[in-house]
Amino acid sequence: MKKITIAIDGFSSCGKSTMAKDLAKKIDYIYIDSGAMYRAVTLFCIQNGLFDGNVLNEEKLKKQIAEIEIIFKLNKDTNKPETYLNGVNVEERIRQMDVSNKVSIVSAVTFVREAMVHQQQQMGKAKGIVMDGRDIGTVVFPDAELKIFVTASPQIRAERRLLELRNKGDQQTTFEEVFENLKERDYKDQNRAEGPLRKADDALELDNSHITIEQQMQWLLDKFNHVIDDEK
Ligand code: DC
Repeated sequence: MKKITIAIDGFSSCGKSTMAKDLAKKIDYIYIDSGAMYRAVTLFCIQNGLFDGNVLNEEKLKKQIAEIEIIFKLNKDTNKPETYLNGVNVEERIRQMDVSNKVSIVSAVTFVREAMVHQQQQMGKAKGIVMDGRDIGTVVFPDAELKIFVTASPQIRAERRLLELRNKGDQQTTFEEVFENLKERDYKDQNRAEGPLRKADDALELDNSHITIEQQMQWLLDKFNHVIDDEK
């Protein structure tokens, strides 16, 4: 069967990653979490002292960006892909609040975006890929056969993110902190000069505020099958 490219974009914490991961598993496609790549670069900056408060030393990062290797490996026990930064598994680490608080700064840097977009396009060359992010349908794969734009209300997204943090053992972060972080990232994602978050003209919109994971999966599979039928 012909393989296609699936681009899933949308706001932070609207369940894009879970959705993209589950869909990829179901249709036996490769899943790439592009946000994890920006998070890994952010962690690299934190670990290498490239931040002074919220000020990023872009000059230094430019010199070091070629040293950053980000790959995804499948964890055979959980059957989930995990992010590796220069050989180290950082899957958990990149989801912590210090990274979340600084990732918008790093992902707004033009040369960082260029490097990530290039790597993402390489990963998608053979098709058969589901990639989620902010600019996948608009910049990374403008020719993707299936583009989805996901939304959910900020309140619901903050509740989901908080639950995720709690499940990972974070009992400190408050709802207000998560909510503020989300609002700030929404604003920055939509207003940066390079690769801003916006719905591609040919993307299908999905508001998942009030639907179950199962209903969402059915919706996605219907759209996927529709495209596949058209491609035949
Ligand atoms: O999907 P996420 O919340 O893990 O993404 C982390 C950050 O990375 C988010 O604040 C926006 C940025 N990002 C981006 O600029 N472009 C992408 N394709 C994916 C994520």
